[in-house]
Amino acid sequence: MSKKKQPNEILPKDLDGEAELDRFLSPEVEEVDDIVEVTLRPRTLKEYIGQNKIKESLQIFIDAAKKRGESLEHSLLYGPPGLGKTTLALIIGNELGVRTKITSGPAIERPGDLAAILTSLETGDVLFIDEIHRLNRIVEEILYPALEDRAIDIMIGKGPGARSMRIELNPFTVIGATTKIGSLSAPLRDRFGTIFNLDFYSKDEISDIIKRSAKILDVKIDKDALEELAGRSRYTPRIANRLLKRTRDYAQVRHDGDITRDIVSDALSMLDVDPLGLDKGDKKLLLALIEKFGGGPVGVETLAASTSEERETIEDVYEPYLLQIGFIERTPRGRKITAKALKYFGKEMPRSKQEKLI
Ligand SMILES: Nc1ncnc2c1ncn2[C@@H]1O[C@H](COP(=O)(O)OP(=O)(O)OP(=O)(O)O)[C@@H](O)[C@H]1O
Ligand SMILES: [Mg+2]
Repeated sequence: MSKKKQPNEILPKDLDGEAELDRFLSPEVEEVDDIVEVTLRPRTLKEYIGQNKIKESLQIFIDAAKKRGESLEHSLLYGPPGLGKTTLALIIGNELGVRTKITSGPAIERPGDLAAILTSLETGDVLFIDEIHRLNRIVEEILYPALEDRAIDIMIGKGPGARSMRIELNPFTVIGATTKIGSLSAPLRDRFGTIFNLDFYSKDEISDIIKRSAKILDVKIDKDALEELAGRSRYTPRIANRLLKRTRDYAQVRHDGDITRDIVSDALSMLDVDPLGLDKGDKKLLLALIEKFGGGPVGVETLAASTSEERETIEDVYEPYLLQIGFIERTPRGRKITAKALKYFGKEMPRSKQEKLI
């Protein structure tokens, strides 16, 4: 049995979400990496690399809120795993100079749990709700008036004598994070003043992130190695940091510790991470799409069943990057392979399908 999470406990695990997947390239965090993850995590907006538009807006909102002595508007952060949502939420609290309490959708089981958290918030506090799409309905309903009117309604008593009592809350800010904006109910989504969509980083930004991390980890990496590593990081900071750490291990054990392009290539091919950052899982998925389904379109459920992957894993972990690099396409009838992916694998489509390809 896992220990029930206390809402205001700041555990490294909480900072990084549940480690449900053991796939090497998974942007989900592995427990052993937690401590290093935390030290690599930027603590100020200035240290946070990329996502420039979001940073710029946030800086203005934070400065304005501080100037007026008000709490920041409730904000929602969404985007694929490992892009820096939790990091940004913690930075916001830090930049505001307030206390940040951390919880997550699945950790709040009953309405009373959320009511207890909300009533314990002090003026200006930030409440970070990770995986906010996993809040259950009844709990979610407590959040509506809290976000909108800064109050909660609780029921006193049972049966015909029951009555509802309104409790006013101190001014506070909820920062919600989710990988699945589509799973969020409209009433909940609409109660956030600002919604930020985190997108994949550019290769240069990933290089800067690796450079920064290498400095913190005190490891030397040359320009070519940096380029190679950045190219294999799926435009995702968490993966960039993880690959850097694995390459560092390899460089220290097999070489003198400095990282060169050859060392990156050797270390990552040992881990089955190819030059585009694709691993065995991606390849299995793409090859199934080509070989079993004639390039598609095929529904995600069918694809999941035929590759023994969870639908969620396909949607959250594999697909965002494969879509980003233009290897698959999403159509109303399902997932389709692209000509670019076929070329990469040196495959051809059956003749009947060729004209349908983009
Ligand atoms: N903009 C950034 N600059 C530098 N490092 C970053 C940045 N964004 C993320 N990181 C690094 O990547 C790691 C993963 O980021 P984070 O945990 O915030 O991702 P997430 O979006 O919350 O992922 P999940 O959806 O899995 O919860 C952080 O520990 C941090 O070291
Ligand atoms: Mg997170």
